[in-house]
Amino acid sequence: MNRPAITATNHSTAFDEQTLEEIANAISKHGYIILPNVLRTDLFERLRQRAKAFTSSEWKAAGIGRNNAHHLDKQLRSDSIHWITDRHPSEVDFMALMESLRIGLNRRLFLGLFNFEAHFSKYPAGAFYVKHIDALKGRSNRVLSAVYYLNADWQLDDAGELLIYPETGKEPIERVLPKGGTLVLFESVRFPHEVLKANRTRFSIAGWFRVNENN
Ligand code: OGA
Ligand code: MN
Repeated sequence: MNRPAITATNHSTAFDEQTLEEIANAISKHGYIILPNVLRTDLFERLRQRAKAFTSSEWKAAGIGRNNAHHLDKQLRSDSIHWITDRHPSEVDFMALMESLRIGLNRRLFLGLFNFEAHFSKYPAGAFYVKHIDALKGRSNRVLSAVYYLNADWQLDDAGELLIYPETGKEPIERVLPKGGTLVLFESVRFPHEVLKANRTRFSIAGWFRVNENN
């Protein structure tokens, strides 16, 4: 699939220095961070409305890798996705926010993050994504994964947690409820994770900071 890399042009939406510092410290120390209530303001609401407004033909069944047969994918994940490729104002602002993160992390951690790709995800009630990693060491240019949740008033019994596992070991180190405004960042090659079935439709944006494929 041809997915143009997006470079944000609108820098009015940006993380402040203190937040960038906090994120960089956590990533270098632990490899991940969970930030509740990032941007739980009008941008959150605009992105949430955007996700809810896509028609069924604008959602595509999600696949695994690039060449796998689709019937196999269905057993591994049952969400639908919509790649962020157009210039809807809410998406432009979100990409600007992530661009500020890309630059802020490059400055602090010298990660050489080159760009960011992202898609909306929709998990209807009962949909899931089995335990997986987003990048294979040396086989992918995905360095840092980001997940941003778009669900208003998500309760414990709505379920649909993101479970994050350690590099080795069966017990999750984090169980993240997909509450609106929560942003999760983790090193793509290090953390297996899975999405549990939810009891109602669960929206998120999943994205990846990448290094240049030519490197
Ligand atoms: C993914 C993913 C997690 C989530 O899309 O690769 O792991 O909580 N998403 O939506
Ligand atoms: Mn994933």
